Amino acid sequence: MAQNRDQIIGSSPAFLDMMDQISRAAPLDRPMLVIGERGTGKELIAARLHYLSNRWNQPFQKMNCAALAESLLESELFGYEPGAFTGARNRRAGRFEAADTGSLFLDEIGTMSMAAQEKLLRVIEYGEFERVGGTETIAVDVRVIGATNIDLPAAADAGEFRHDLLDRLAFDVITVPPLRDRPEDIPQLANHFGRAMAGELEWLHFPGFSDKALDQMLGYNWPGNVRELKNVVDRALYRAWDGEKPVCDIVFDPFDSPFRPPVKRNRAAPAPIVVQTVAQGAASVADATTSCTLPDGPFDLRAEVAAQEKNLYERALEACRYNQRAAAHHAGLSYDQFRHGLKKHGLL
Ligand SMILES: Nc1ncnc2c1ncn2[C@@H]1O[C@H](COP(=O)(O)OP(=O)(O)O)[C@@H](O)[C@H]1O
Ligand SMILES: [Mg+2]
Repeated sequence: MAQNRDQIIGSSPAFLDMMDQISRAAPLDRPMLVIGERGTGKELIAARLHYLSNRWNQPFQKMNCAALAESLLESELFGYEPGAFTGARNRRAGRFEAADTGSLFLDEIGTMSMAAQEKLLRVIEYGEFERVGGTETIAVDVRVIGATNIDLPAAADAGEFRHDLLDRLAFDVITVPPLRDRPEDIPQLANHFGRAMAGELEWLHFPGFSDKALDQMLGYNWPGNVRELKNVVDRALYRAWDGEKPVCDIVFDPFDSPFRPPVKRNRAAPAPIVVQTVAQGAASVADATTSCTLPDGPFDLRAEVAAQEKNLYERALEACRYNQRAAAHHAGLSYDQFRHGLKKHGLL
């Protein structure tokens, strides 16, 4: 069973609903998808799916698809025969063979090449594949658990992920709620990581956090989710020096310093955004560095950019009287790209 450090902590309603779904899905011998922002605990969830399944005492293999170049990924997953490529002197088994009778966790599955996706579909559907450079068909029994933080249906619509593979993988989808949507879990997780860090620092006991520190943590939006929370807690404890008083200084950004070197803006300056409206009839140039204001306090860059992008789609549509083809042209996108964007932002 999972060790202590792999404990999954949380008691918010959203978290408990997800844990329920995991317990129900685990025993089913079907592929699963785990979707969630970075640092939400997707790897822990995949492990839980495995350890609560009938395969719990069989191998659990993990592989990050983004960590390897396209050509290496295939040989890592499916193994290779001698001479398959320069340097391939001996036969090597891949992750699928290593995971036989168990589960294989494929992290960042959205980054897989089309060729690897094709092989993956076949092994999920028929349990068979050939090693790279080989002709012998190998049969395996592996439960695949995929994880990603991208929108796979949108990636499939954009032609970057195979629809048939997505259909096959998405027997059920576990969507991990971001930490900001389950604030009840924040104090519990903070105390859990705090106790562990206090032990590491050889404090006699963990004095907890001050109310102000807890409020600060509750008010933050945690773009890096639980991984970031763990770092913030560890940092707060180690900077606190002693374990007598409740920990009160929380530093969200370790780069924050009055001596931080200024950002050099001139290298590879981004192209200005050109917005042309029907009413003006002429291009107005909005310089990204002057037209947007920095939100007060910490903010989620990606959410801000997404909101801005959505706004631009809406304005392009308005400017072209909701003619999508014209709006796509107006925004410098192909019709398909534009439709993909509309869909991504829920504008279709
Ligand atoms: N609910 C949780 N309880 C305890 N630790 C968690 C929880 N969720 C995430 N973590 C911890 O946060 C870190 C990031 O988790 P990970 O599974 O690697 O995230 P992801 O794969 O979604 O980026 C790990 O150290 C993990 O142990
Ligand atoms: Mg991960």
